[in-house]
Amino acid sequence: TKIYAITPTYSRPAQKAELTRLSHLFMLVPSLHWIIVEDSNVTTPLVTNLLHRAGIEKRSTQLNIKTPPEFKLQGKDPNWIKPRGVEQRNLALTWLRSHHDNDHHGIVFFMDDDNSYSVELFLEMLKIQPGRVGVWPVGLVGGLMVEKPLLNDDKTQVVGFNAAWRPERPFPIDMAAFAISMDLFIKNPQAVFSYDVQRGYQESEILRHLTTREQLQPLANQCRDVLVWHTRTEKTKLTSEEALQRQGKRSDGGMEV
Ligand code: UGA
Ligand code: MN
Repeated sequence: TKIYAITPTYSRPAQKAELTRLSHLFMLVPSLHWIIVEDSNVTTPLVTNLLHRAGIEKRSTQLNIKTPPEFKLQGKDPNWIKPRGVEQRNLALTWLRSHHDNDHHGIVFFMDDDNSYSVELFLEMLKIQPGRVGVWPVGLVGGLMVEKPLLNDDKTQVVGFNAAWRPERPFPIDMAAFAISMDLFIKNPQAVFSYDVQRGYQESEILRHLTTREQLQPLANQCRDVLVWHTRTEKTKLTSEEALQRQGKRSDGGMEV
């Protein structure tokens, strides 16, 4: 079974650091195929070189599509006012549907570039049954130490969620909390991401086309283990770099950082 991890990514000072962390995960998990989609008009050498250096170019697909300006965050915008990764994830789904519609056993996971993932998470995903969506806890998200599915007495079915933030959402979980059996995307071609959703509804928007709460498959030790954390990297402060640049100098001349 192949796990197709779909990662939207955009250029910023910490991009290479984030992607280097992820690329080393791919080196450790042979069943992973990386669909990395740059929010850009071109594919960049930074990403191409990174895939080569990790030796995973044969297990990756480098795509690009720019978020239209009207949906792009501006300098001082708080990051939550517009959905992120919509265009990029949809391009990856189009690619998957056209190239891999025979691979009904594949698993699809939306893997943001800044979270922290355990290798063990991907071993759990391999347990996802055809026609189902696997779910598990996510650490450090939604204002809680952990957001998690709540299970019935015999621990086989999801009966609710512990979310504190917008618990009324149909699926009050983070993008990192689930992975999807590939056959569901083939069966439901209408399942795509949309800009036309309220804040926090991207996950519900894709899942409502594919599954119901009752059909979710609980993983990660009956949803007791945390194998992924919604970490966020602080914005890099470059005041001295900007001062250098005003003098026509820079610290990273001829270097890729
Ligand atoms: C949360 C969820 O974890 C995301 O999966 C979801 O897309 C997002 O909210 C949302 O509601 O849109 P958060 O940490 O707030 O995530 O979002 P980011 O990590 O900033 O962005 C998610 C992904 O989109 C990342 O892989 C990031 O590199 C990418 N992105 C972000 C772009 O490709 N372009 C951008 O302009 C911004
Ligand atoms: Mn993030």
